[in-house]
Amino acid sequence: MLAAVGSAVGLGNIWKFPYITGEYGGGAFVLVYLICIALIGIPVMMAEILLGRRGRRSPINTMRELTRSEGTSPVWRLVGWGGVLTGFLILSFYSVVAGWAFAYVFEGAIGSFNGLDGDGAGALFGDLTAAPDRLIFWHTLFIGMTVLVVANGVRSGLERLITWLMPLLFVLLAILVGYAMAAGDFARGLHFLFDVDFSRVFTVCDEAGQCGYTAEPVLVAMGHAFFTLSLGMGAIMAYGSYMPRDASIASSTIMIAIADTLVALMAGLAIFPLVFANGLEPGAGPGLVFVSLPIAFGAMPGGQFFGTLFFILLVFAAWSSSISLVEPAVAWLTENEHLSRPKAAWIIGGLAWVLGIGSALSFNLWSGEEYQIFGKTLFDIKDYVTANIMLPLGGLAIALFTGWAVGRRLPESELGMRSARLFGAWHFTLRYIAPAGIVLIFLNAIGVV
Ligand code: PHE
Repeated sequence: MLAAVGSAVGLGNIWKFPYITGEYGGGAFVLVYLICIALIGIPVMMAEILLGRRGRRSPINTMRELTRSEGTSPVWRLVGWGGVLTGFLILSFYSVVAGWAFAYVFEGAIGSFNGLDGDGAGALFGDLTAAPDRLIFWHTLFIGMTVLVVANGVRSGLERLITWLMPLLFVLLAILVGYAMAAGDFARGLHFLFDVDFSRVFTVCDEAGQCGYTAEPVLVAMGHAFFTLSLGMGAIMAYGSYMPRDASIASSTIMIAIADTLVALMAGLAIFPLVFANGLEPGAGPGLVFVSLPIAFGAMPGGQFFGTLFFILLVFAAWSSSISLVEPAVAWLTENEHLSRPKAAWIIGGLAWVLGIGSALSFNLWSGEEYQIFGKTLFDIKDYVTANIMLPLGGLAIALFTGWAVGRRLPESELGMRSARLFGAWHFTLRYIAPAGIVLIFLNAIGVV
């Protein structure tokens, strides 16, 4: 379970949640996201864990085994394959963002944050992202770290690390929230995050303040629910396969979801008061965290220490997530192709490294319009398509497979819930509510409903 928390809590909570919440206008977006966590994320996570624990193999082979033993269509095996591909694509931009955090560990340590204002923070981040060699250097280091852990087997050092890492990250976020209360525009941050203006659910506004109808916020909120819980690509299934028989899937899932959501909300509470107090733009995009928090570290007592520590913890949080991105692929290669774990890990890591170069160049050499598709850079496309399309599709397949294809007995025995009523509620949500929600949000996004 700790490993699953390590997988869930990562850049998604601290980097992505604040930046998309800023882009899509705050409270209404947050509410849709929370509803998606509760009605789609939690039931699908229980399903994904139980499949993994029943299959006890890599996701690809778990799906092969279960389709065989349950006598269902082999088409469901696509879940395993799709997941491997998605994990790959995610890692190839995730490691670039983790690289920013890495670079900021050193910026923090040498005092680059001291006395920084909004413009200075923007320049610091701009200089980093404008330099392909620096981005590629940190990206390489991060992929190397990920491969090292995966090569040695996921369980060994990781769990010990996470047991003290996560609480520490939590404490540091609490300190930052406290600082935002004292020095930021806390009231405005709170209003931004939690005031729900329903007219904003289907609206986005551009920089000029022009607003228009769009289905995007809802799609992105759902996509993020999958992304932040590591759902829909086999990561949680792979970890489920390591889960002991006597552990309760339902309570573990609830705990993971609560911890994950708390970290995201705390990151929001730390960042937005500072954004408003320093005249930054909430919709500034992927750099939001990296331009807002350094201002705080530069002004607070002990900021050099806290700033360095914060980015160290962020790198670790990203690390424990990225490991789960490659685990499904590596576990499969070692089962089927008779490769050693280290070899498999280096192959997968190497491929993601190559793909990741494109993500790093998206901020400099390849940022121009001639390199964009639909106004998005390669980095943006990978971020958008994996989270908002591939993960929800994977999640939909997992929900339908577990809810409909395998019948009731398998989930019933695997979950072992004492209350039949609770099981019934979960089963109903998984069969009807979660799939209908995902499909409706998709149809809405492409303009059908
Ligand atoms: N959940 C991770 C995060 O929030 C990202 C992730 C997605 C990890 C999918 C594994 C699988 O940072």
